[in-house]
Amino acid sequence: MQRIGILTGGGDASGLNAVVRAATLAAAGAGVEMVGIRNGYRGLVESDFQRLDPARVARIHRRGGSILGCDNIFRGDAADFADGVRRAGLDGVIVVGGNGSLTQAAEMAPLMRRGAVVGVPKTIDRDVAGTEATIGFDTAVEAVENACERLIDTAESHRRVMIVEVMGRDSGFIALHGALAGGADVALLPEIPYRVRRVVDAIVERESRELTHTLIVAAEGAVAEGGKPILDRRRTETTGIARLGGIGEALAEQLRGLIDDEVRTVNLAHLQRGGPPTPFDRVLGTQYGAAAVQALLDGRSEVMTSYIGGGVELRPLSEAAGKLRQVELDSSMMRAARAVGIRFGD
Ligand code: F6P
Repeated sequence: MQRIGILTGGGDASGLNAVVRAATLAAAGAGVEMVGIRNGYRGLVESDFQRLDPARVARIHRRGGSILGCDNIFRGDAADFADGVRRAGLDGVIVVGGNGSLTQAAEMAPLMRRGAVVGVPKTIDRDVAGTEATIGFDTAVEAVENACERLIDTAESHRRVMIVEVMGRDSGFIALHGALAGGADVALLPEIPYRVRRVVDAIVERESRELTHTLIVAAEGAVAEGGKPILDRRRTETTGIARLGGIGEALAEQLRGLIDDEVRTVNLAHLQRGGPPTPFDRVLGTQYGAAAVQALLDGRSEVMTSYIGGGVELRPLSEAAGKLRQVELDSSMMRAARAVGIRFGD
């Protein structure tokens, strides 16, 4: 193993730089050259590479985003990616990515004439199968918690219903954990179609207990019973890729016709993706980066670093490729949420 490449695919997530730094330092320690591939898979196709060394990655684990750049619009072909790996003369490539990027890594691997592939799961949505933790999720939940903290104060003072729209396209982990950490009263998840009437019941029931404000956390992918996910039309049209957005305002409109309380909405959007990573994401990123390089040094391929039971291990990439992890409705987390009175609109 002489030359390893690393790319950060899909959307950014806080903690990516911790992976890049750890992988670069681990490779340097083993006398292996590290090549940064710019802007995800686009860099492989466009041969956009940069040399990474310990000086270049010094202390970058504290910064959000990715020093390599990200791209979640570019749609390429696995054969072209494999060609890019060959052109760069890589013996191994580390793909740090979510569901889409890890699926592409699994498709690219058999097409490569030489070189190994190791995946590292990242996504604020935490919807990658085969692991209990993905880079960026903890930082995103912290952002939701901070927002709830502030919104509860003002909602309480003005006796308002406050809706916080959070990310989570197909899975409601951010909404569920954010609601628990932030003390929300209602959480709407993609996994549980909600009935507006049930949300109204939760508000009215709180009022009967003289709790004159309600905080609702709604995942962007939450769907009203019999309805469809709400698309951000402009972004969907400009990118050609379905982009969600607007559940908060849509729900507010539905509620306004049914209750007298003032209903306000805040969309946290990309505030959840940026900012300094939490200690958990820094440590996880560091463990993942070091483990990915070690896997390549050990001659492994088509595996993914995975956080299971408090430690990092390698799992087959196929456990994540083409799969989706969702909130388990009978999990201890859901039971805790229901026990403290969080309503899900069901
Ligand atoms: O997959 C991560 C994610 O943050 C989703 O939660 C969200 O739907 C999407 O990316 C947003 O992407 P963009 O930054 O392109 O709007």
